[in-house]
Amino acid sequence: MRSSVLRAVAASALAFAGAVSATDLAEWKTRSIYQVMIDRFARTDGSTDAECDVSKFCGGSWKGLVNKLDYIQDMGFTAIQISPVVKNMEGNTAVGEAYHGYWSLDNYALNPHFGTESDFSDLVAAVHKRDMLLMVDVVVNNMVQPFDNKVPPKIDYTKFDPFNDQKYFHPYCNVTEWENSTNYQDCWLYPYGVALADLDTESQPVVDELGRWVKGLVSNYSIDGIRIDAAKHVNDEFLPAFVKSSGVFALGEVLTGVPGDMCRYQTLNLLPGMPNYLEYYPLNAAFLGGSMTDLASMRNQAESACNDTTALGSFLENHDMPRFASQNEDIALARNAMTYILLNDGIPTVYQGQEQHFKGNSTPFNREPLWSSGYNTEAPLYVLTATLNKVRNAAIKASPEKYATTMSTTLWSDVNHLCLRKGPDGSQVVFCINNKSSEGDSYEVSVGGFSANDKVIEVLGCKSNTADVTGNVTMYMAKGEPKVYVPESLLKGTGLCGKTEADAPGPDNAAGALGVASSVVVAAVLGWAAVLLA
Ligand SMILES: *[C@@H]1O[C@H](CO)[C@@H](O)[C@H](O)[C@H]1NC(C)=O
Ligand SMILES: *[C@@H]1O[C@H](CO)[C@@H](O)[C@H](O)[C@H]1NC(C)=O
Ligand SMILES: *[C@@H]1O[C@H](CO)[C@@H](O)[C@H](O)[C@H]1NC(C)=O
Ligand SMILES: *[C@@H]1O[C@H](CO)[C@@H](O)[C@H](O)[C@H]1NC(C)=O
Ligand SMILES: *[C@@H]1O[C@H](CO)[C@@H](O)[C@H](O)[C@H]1NC(C)=O
Ligand SMILES: *[C@@H]1O[C@H](CO)[C@@H](O)[C@H](O)[C@H]1NC(C)=O
Repeated sequence: MRSSVLRAVAASALAFAGAVSATDLAEWKTRSIYQVMIDRFARTDGSTDAECDVSKFCGGSWKGLVNKLDYIQDMGFTAIQISPVVKNMEGNTAVGEAYHGYWSLDNYALNPHFGTESDFSDLVAAVHKRDMLLMVDVVVNNMVQPFDNKVPPKIDYTKFDPFNDQKYFHPYCNVTEWENSTNYQDCWLYPYGVALADLDTESQPVVDELGRWVKGLVSNYSIDGIRIDAAKHVNDEFLPAFVKSSGVFALGEVLTGVPGDMCRYQTLNLLPGMPNYLEYYPLNAAFLGGSMTDLASMRNQAESACNDTTALGSFLENHDMPRFASQNEDIALARNAMTYILLNDGIPTVYQGQEQHFKGNSTPFNREPLWSSGYNTEAPLYVLTATLNKVRNAAIKASPEKYATTMSTTLWSDVNHLCLRKGPDGSQVVFCINNKSSEGDSYEVSVGGFSANDKVIEVLGCKSNTADVTGNVTMYMAKGEPKVYVPESLLKGTGLCGKTEADAPGPDNAAGALGVASSVVVAAVLGWAAVLLA
């Protein structure tokens, strides 16, 4: 039922934390997820001629993904989340075709656009063979048919499998009150071009059927986790029973930036995890004219409102939101945002194309075919992602019980910076992100997180350094680059920074070093003199 990896740990404990096995939860916390939209990831024949109308099918398939798993694994990811797999409605509409997979028609047939049953089974097997886990996106809020925009929608219920009768659905009304849960849970979402016929997930037959279905889907194909689409749009009571029926870890989509509204799903044991929309907004804002202090503040609010922020999915982009680079193309900002996502508490989740610095804005333009990048493994953000995943994977390997579950501590933050430490002594990662952009000035900051005289390496520049007697390290900031420090010993066997050089103020820092008008603590001048004389 689960991958070999999960089976190995499953034997040890069968304790349940809420609806999900504690071993599943613990395992998923150590993973790093790459999010794939099947139609846009890779074609079966691997062709990369970019012709693709982004509102229609572009030809990606499960086989295409199998053939390109190296691209994902070489970036250090240990899990893949894919778009929904069931058969959808056909045809073009005012909002395009069902290329994304969210317009369920028949839950008991796989989507023929993406391949056959054996193609899908082959995908799962190929993912497991690499010791990666597979998460599948599932839709429970609604079934879908074309809509001519004349209300009420005319639905041929006999076309749905299951739920082939109107009695399984809420009566039609349009969601109009986004603060009224009865309204946004019982009415039909976004009636335009298609009708999202809203399932009556309060009724026992619907609850039983969806439970049976997800149990079958997970066990027939050996799926390791699910993402629950629009979890906020079904009633609370539905969720824990559904997750329990699935038997696996779930990330439920709860789109809100309000800590209480999001965290209640955890504290009431409705869902084991959710994509971290709480930090999504202040993280983006910090690079778009806002302040890092708001992100630091949201971290604190989320930590007190949620039971466990290490079970949230940390993300910057997904298939619903405008790409980061559609708002600001500066590469240094993107590098800082990526660094935060991969080293933050929680399960890092990177949406395909983020590593290629794609810049599509709203849906469907944020769903560019990945092949238009030529699967460039030398793209700056691809290389950065590979490095950071390797660092995180090494820290988890060095400290399997503690790294992923230890909450980060904030070492220092101001309007431009956020410096965090994650992990126990010996496998800690100390990192500083900033929002100065590639035009950023040169200066030094002294940041803690280590013990006296620890030998450390800054992994993005492969520079070695030694912590001072207080455990602080001097960071030579320039051009808005993020900084990531680990104990030297942590990098053994990772292939990272085979050669390092002593860190010192570079040409950029040297110019600004003495004259920097920064509120930040300037490095120990004596330590510097030593470097300059050596
Ligand atoms: C549904 O409500 C939205 C406003 O919330 C409105 O823009 C839209 O036209 C409505 N659609 C229908 C089919 O009534
Ligand atoms: C909330 O929405 C429901 C369903 O549309 C409606 O019946 C109810 O009156 C609304 N409640 C409030 C307080 O507006
Ligand atoms: C899983 O397999 C069983 C046995 O073949 C079948 O009855 C069931 O419909 C399948 N479930 C799904 C979701 O494919
Ligand atoms: C979260 O906290 C609440 C309230 O303290 C508690 O009832 C619940 O069991 C906790 N859930 C988990 C998964 O720890
Ligand atoms: C960085 O933060 C400062 C202070 O809040 C803000 O003025 C600046 O616009 C931010 N930079 C970017 C690129 O958003
Ligand atoms: C050491 O780093 C901390 C932040 O982690 C900072 O507040 C402190 O001032 C630094 N100490 C020195 C001596 O620079």
